[in-house]
Amino acid sequence: MRVAIIGQGYVGLTIAVGAAEAGHQVLGFDVNPSLVSQLNSGHSHIEGVSNQVLQGIISTGKYQSSTDATLLDGSDVVVIAVPTPLDNERNPDLTYVHAAAELISKHVKNSALIVNESTSYPGTLRKEIAARIVGVEHLFASSPERVDPGNTQWGTKNTPRLIGGLTPAAVAKAREFYGSFCDSIIEVSSPEVAEAAKIFENTFRQVNIALVNEFAQISDALGISSREVIEAAATKPYGFMPFNPGPGVGGHCIPVDPSYLAHVANEVGVPATFIKRANEVNLAMPAYVVKRIISAAGGSISDKSVVVVGVSYKANVADTRETPAAAVIDLLRAQGALVVWHDDLVGSWRGEASSPLTGHDIAVVVTKHDGVDINAIKSSQYVFDCTGTVPGVEGI
Ligand SMILES: NC(=O)c1ccc[n+]([C@@H]2O[C@H](COP(=O)([O-])OP(=O)(O)OC[C@H]3O[C@@H](n4cnc5c(N)ncnc54)[C@H](O)[C@@H]3O)[C@@H](O)[C@H]2O)c1
Repeated sequence: MRVAIIGQGYVGLTIAVGAAEAGHQVLGFDVNPSLVSQLNSGHSHIEGVSNQVLQGIISTGKYQSSTDATLLDGSDVVVIAVPTPLDNERNPDLTYVHAAAELISKHVKNSALIVNESTSYPGTLRKEIAARIVGVEHLFASSPERVDPGNTQWGTKNTPRLIGGLTPAAVAKAREFYGSFCDSIIEVSSPEVAEAAKIFENTFRQVNIALVNEFAQISDALGISSREVIEAAATKPYGFMPFNPGPGVGGHCIPVDPSYLAHVANEVGVPATFIKRANEVNLAMPAYVVKRIISAAGGSISDKSVVVVGVSYKANVADTRETPAAAVIDLLRAQGALVVWHDDLVGSWRGEASSPLTGHDIAVVVTKHDGVDINAIKSSQYVFDCTGTVPGVEGI
């Protein structure tokens, strides 16, 4: 099949690789010209796709990236994989999805399968995409992406793929396409069910992370280890699923997707109380971390040198979107601490460069990448660990 993928970020490039390796002819369309030339020269910008893999699909002639929208015409399948952020009022911002629909409407003159993989609320495919694409009878399906960047166990191939179509023909075509590079396809009765499943999955994580973050604070006040309690609870063979506490939630999914569900809930008159409360608890975690550090330092961290270890939102990825490290650093600085950060994967961020790990009064481990030396972390006089990976120190 001729496949065009609109957006070559974490999701779009991952799907491009899956499709090209399955033998499809893939166009990776993106509006960012420097990204496009980087990809065409065989340099991947995401951890899940190596340069070697990218160069492989380029050399077989199965993949090229482009900013030229006229190349979308003639595609059998067009996949939308564009950002779905929140606006300033934390409401869904569908600007990129609308732009993708307009590109398809303008340029794809043959009948194609249009699939949305971008995460959004139920009704997006039908009302925000299909309704905007006029003039040609396309097939429309929703297949929300479930990729977990950095996860080496679960990838595009072995993570079951949900498909909901506007028509049976759309489902059949989507099954044929995704079945060529995904092991397991799960059809649901409508695109709305597929869309809702994705945001419910992430809301489930958001709410449970908030619960465990609150529990960590209760445990600490009780003088017991929350992690030991969670481990103990997880020995129950049914009815319990462990989540780990941390300094808050980051990335493009957990802090954002539940607000899409809350938005649609408000529209239909149902209060999304859990989502709101979970947001509050998770957003308050950096302040809790800083409070614990100040208390351990005897009431003041003014003029103390502090290194924040790991500023990406999770281990072994360089993605700093919505990272709680930002709030941790800002709050430490507001208390007069002299803060630098160390993260070789991120390198530079917010106009600052990664600093050496050793020789500080305080080390705060926000994210622990593999290969970061625990002894070097422990060279600081006091260590506060938000990750549960540095033995023998205080933390959550
Ligand atoms: N990153 C994840 O782990 C993940 C997982 C599952 C689902 N998602 C969802 O997938 C969607 C994409 O996320 P992502 O992480 O790949 O985003 P990203 O920011 O990594 O990539 C998006 C790409 O789209 C491009 N783009 C923006 N507007 C465009 C347009 N009009 N035409 C062509 N390209 C355009 C951008 O230049 C960028 O390269 C979002 O809805 C997100 O919620 C992300």
